[in-house]
Amino acid sequence: MSEWYETLDGVYGRAWSLLIRGTNDPKHDARTPTLATMSATGPQQRTLVLRQTDKEGGRIILYTDKASAKVGEIIADPRVSLHVWDKRSQIQLRLAATASLAPGDPKLWEKMPEGAREVYGVEPPPGTPLEDPLSFERTSNADKFLCVTLTLHEIELVTLAPDPHRRARFRRVDGWAGQWLAP
Ligand SMILES: Cc1cc2nc3c(=O)[nH]c(=O)nc-3n(C[C@H](O)[C@H](O)[C@H](O)COP(=O)(O)O)c2cc1C
Repeated sequence: MSEWYETLDGVYGRAWSLLIRGTNDPKHDARTPTLATMSATGPQQRTLVLRQTDKEGGRIILYTDKASAKVGEIIADPRVSLHVWDKRSQIQLRLAATASLAPGDPKLWEKMPEGAREVYGVEPPPGTPLEDPLSFERTSNADKFLCVTLTLHEIELVTLAPDPHRRARFRRVDGWAGQWLAP
């Protein structure tokens, strides 16, 4: 039986199974990818939680506070990159995407526990300099609950598990046909 990394189809399937696992398993490394944006002063990165994964549409959904710096950065330049490193499987994913912003679904807000709501609506807004580290309030403000949809246009996987290593890239413009790359 062939291993997943021996065919481009296998690699493509593995990339998505990792993203789906990250969405469903809070303890998995793929649960907390790094989102990179371009700010006025250069690249910025931060950890976010993977919330939804749509393999058919090639989309990923993240949530954030509407007042956070990344939102302004995405409005100014919606080209983003998402990075995943899964130590257990020795797989790195690099996803190139266009981000779009929309208010979070009120039905999701209704179902969200209070502890999860608290991160939306921090006052003063996230990133504001404080005199004292605790001089902020958590307001659980539904108006600040924002959904960030990443429409992927490129998926790149490198795995260090087999020797020699394997690296492949998949592009939406080619109907996600893959291309092996030198690792
Ligand atoms: C494990 C972990 C998970 C996080 N999840 C989220 C998240 O889902 N959404 C979010 O906006 N920020 C999340 N954060 C906080 C961000 O990393 C970041 O500090 C915050 O969003 C402000 O980023 P910005 O100033 O670049 O907008 C998380 C941080 C950690 C350490």
